[in-house]
Amino acid sequence: MSSSSSTSSPSSAPIDTTGANGTPRDQSTVAKLRGISKVYYKPDGSVLVEALKGIDLDIPQGQYIAIMGASGSGKSTIMNLLGCLDRPTRGTYLLDDRDVANMPDDELSKVRGRKIGFVFQAFNLISELTIVENVQVPLFYQGVPRAERNRRAIEKLELVGLGDRLTHRPKELSGGQQQRVAIARALINDPSIIMADEPTGNLDSKTGTAILKLFDELHAAGMTIIMVTHDDSVAERCERVVRLRDGEIESDTMVGRKCRPQAGDLAD
Ligand SMILES: Nc1ncnc2c1ncn2[C@@H]1O[C@H](COP(=O)(O)OP(=O)(O)OP(=O)(O)O)[C@@H](O)[C@H]1O
Ligand SMILES: [Mg+2]
Repeated sequence: MSSSSSTSSPSSAPIDTTGANGTPRDQSTVAKLRGISKVYYKPDGSVLVEALKGIDLDIPQGQYIAIMGASGSGKSTIMNLLGCLDRPTRGTYLLDDRDVANMPDDELSKVRGRKIGFVFQAFNLISELTIVENVQVPLFYQGVPRAERNRRAIEKLELVGLGDRLTHRPKELSGGQQQRVAIARALINDPSIIMADEPTGNLDSKTGTAILKLFDELHAAGMTIIMVTHDDSVAERCERVVRLRDGEIESDTMVGRKCRPQAGDLAD
């Protein structure tokens, strides 16, 4: 990995003020990937597929990024690595300045639990639990006492506009409301990154737009969001679009319109 500019002596070459992908270096970087490759092997040890081929990517704190690309281009693979669900075959991944690429499993799952919030297309709520219990699940596994779990879950449900539905079960809610519960659960640990994989894929377009407005609000509040999407109109709401092709970054562009809520967006 290249050395940090802060270690340069006064007599050294001019300081390079940009990181990978043109990201300004003075903005704090939540995730830094260098030379990341992911190889899937056949049982006999030969290479089946190289799903990611030497990816360099810097994700500044507070950025809202869309990951796009054709089926098989490596979107889920890179999301799994960024979300600490999997490890790369080669390369380094610094998450909040800690190298997670070579972390043992138990430590990696702790980092995942505290620093990453996941939102899936299929909501993935537990049907037997009330929504306030669903939101608490990550805290339960961390041994947080019940009263604090409850307090924090209610706070997050109020944030997503469901403070009046605490004792409902998932099936008593609309699809959009269930996705709001999933977002509240993703926020419960005040994560460094929200990872969302086609979060509007199971919703009709009006409900999907309402969920995207909620992401806009989270972004406006400073959350770092990485969203996989096939939908150009979803990607347009983001600040930056990273397009993958055959395991490589094909393009990495800043979107003209900043993804801040527009006047009127928050009215309904
Ligand atoms: N567990 C695995 N074992 C072997 N090959 C895999 C595995 N997971 C993914 N691949 C391969 O890695 C490549 C990238 O897959 P990936 O799932 O990341 O694509 P994707 O961009 O998410 O596609 P989609 O839009 O269809 O979800 C593909 O060629 C895929 O077949
Ligand atoms: Mg995928």
